[in-house]
Parts: sequence; structure tokens; C-alpha cells
Amino acid sequence: MRKAILAALIAILPFANPALAQNFPSRPITIIVPFSAGGPSDVMARILAERMKATLGEAVLIENVTGAGGSIGVGRAVRSPPDGYTISFGHLGTHVANGAIYKLGYDLVTDLEPVVLLPSNTMIVVSKNAVPAKTLGELLAWLKAKPAPAAAGTAGAGSGSHIAGLYFENITGIKLQYVPYRGTGPAMNDLVAGQIDMIVDQLSNSINQVRAGTIRGYAVTDTKRAESAADIPTADEAGLPGFHMMLWSGLWAPKGTPRDVITKLNAAAVEALNDPAVRKQLENLGLQMPPRDRLSPQALGDWQKAEIAKWWPMIKAANVKVD
Ligand code: MLT
Repeated sequence: MRKAILAALIAILPFANPALAQNFPSRPITIIVPFSAGGPSDVMARILAERMKATLGEAVLIENVTGAGGSIGVGRAVRSPPDGYTISFGHLGTHVANGAIYKLGYDLVTDLEPVVLLPSNTMIVVSKNAVPAKTLGELLAWLKAKPAPAAAGTAGAGSGSHIAGLYFENITGIKLQYVPYRGTGPAMNDLVAGQIDMIVDQLSNSINQVRAGTIRGYAVTDTKRAESAADIPTADEAGLPGFHMMLWSGLWAPKGTPRDVITKLNAAAVEALNDPAVRKQLENLGLQMPPRDRLSPQALGDWQKAEIAKWWPMIKAANVKVD
């Protein structure tokens, strides 16, 4: 009974309170980042939030709600009031892969409203410096010769680094032993410390460590080299043809959020992405801007569905076990 009343309230809210959209925003907005602070998702969200604040005229706060490959943070956003004040930051992992791995208790397509497609990361194969390999070929030989599977850091089952790991296993035939963290920020600390062997990471998370020489970078999964890391070959060049993956991110709002509010949030994000200073910050991290003709909420919705169709078969075939 209570659920029925709540559902009815959510359904009429946007119409019951048109003022909601007009006065939006009238207080701070929270972006829920489902991974640890300091990691690639958190860093991108904070850069955008800082600029969106200028357009929206209200603070845009970041709340890190971590765990279960990001599905806990997304769940928190799904259950938030559909008023635009709580939005979900996510990516190919949280808003595509997790639907093929977890019993989420929410639907990634029908329980969320797409707001905007955000920049994407090429993935990069990185290892601790102690690994006796300088090229991808030498790394693969070392991995194959190892008596036990290498310890590969991830941000949990379904995260971008995990899906990239599954894809790496698929394409190389090499088994990995996954070590889950609440984000690739903390995983990176352990890689630098030599506690784990490797990560198939987002470039924006690894680039500064690779530049500093504290870890080793072998290949990127884009079909072209990254301008900000032009010395690192593509997987095609490095002897792993076809290992292509771009980890795109996005913003979503709870189902039932008024269209006008979605439009305002989208406009603020697009303005941030078009800001030369913001672009420079993001591109310096190796991030690639989404095409200008794919910045509408509809474009994100269509892209998410297409990616679900593309990735779910591989992910389901991997038969990932989660508690
Ligand atoms: C993070 O911010 O930690 C990442 O997005 C994790 C991942 O998906 O690999």
C-alpha cells in the first residue's frame, strides 16, 4: 500500500509542482560517484561539477558511495527523489555491465533518465615496475609463464577495469586473479607499491604514474594513440590486434525527474564540456570529448542501449560470480 502511494506520488510530482522545474536549482545538487575519491570517475566528476556550479548558480557537490562495482552508488541515486538534486555519475561498467552481473533491484534503462554523455577513456595495460617486461609482448610472455595467475586490480566486479580485464583474458587466453578495490584510485596505490601485478586501467587514472615512471604502461585500447601519451603504442601496434575498448561515462537522474530539470542539467554539463579550460584539464588526462552531436539526453539513452546489446553477451559468457 505504502509502495503504491509512493509510486503514485513520484508519478505526479513533476506535474504537481511545475514550479520545481522553474526554480531549479534552488539548493545544492549532489552527484553520486560510485567509486572512491581520487579515482578516474571522481576526478572527472569534480572537474565538471566545479564548472556546472557556475551555470546552475548552486553548488554541485560530490558524494562517493562505493561498493559492488559501483552498483551501490547507482542504487542510491535510483532511490533518490526525482527532483534533479541527486544525480548519478557512471560509465560502461556501472550503467551497462552491472546489469549483466548483479541482481541490481533496479533497471539501468527504465529506472534512470539519461542526462548527458561525458568524455571517454581509452584503457591502458599497466603493471608494477618489478615486472620483467618492457613491451606488451614481453608482458604477455611473462603472464603466460607465471605459475599462478597475475594479481589484477579492479574497482570490483562489473567495473570498467574488471570488464577490460575480462576482455583482456578473452583476447589473450591468459587467466587473471582479480583483486577488487572500491575504485582504481586505491588500486593504483597498491600497484605503485608493487602489491598487485597489473591493472587494465582508464588512461586518466594511470597517465601521471606512467609519466612519473612509478608504473609501466604497455598499450592503449583505442585504435589510435592518445595525444597525451603518444609514446604508448596501441594494442594493434603492440601485437594484440582487435583489443579495442573505450570507457565512456555519463550522468543520469532518477526516473520521473521533470524534463525541464533534465534539460537544465544537460545544458550545464554541455557548457562545462565546451569550456576551453575544462577541456584542457580533461584532455591533459587523456580523456576524449564526446562528439558534439551526441550530447543530448536522448543520445545517451540510445548509446547505453546499444552498448548493452554489444557487451552483455561477453559479460554473461564470462559467468562472473558475485555474492
Ligand atoms: C573509478 O573511478 O575507480 C573507476 O571508474 C573504476 C572502474 O570502473 O574501473
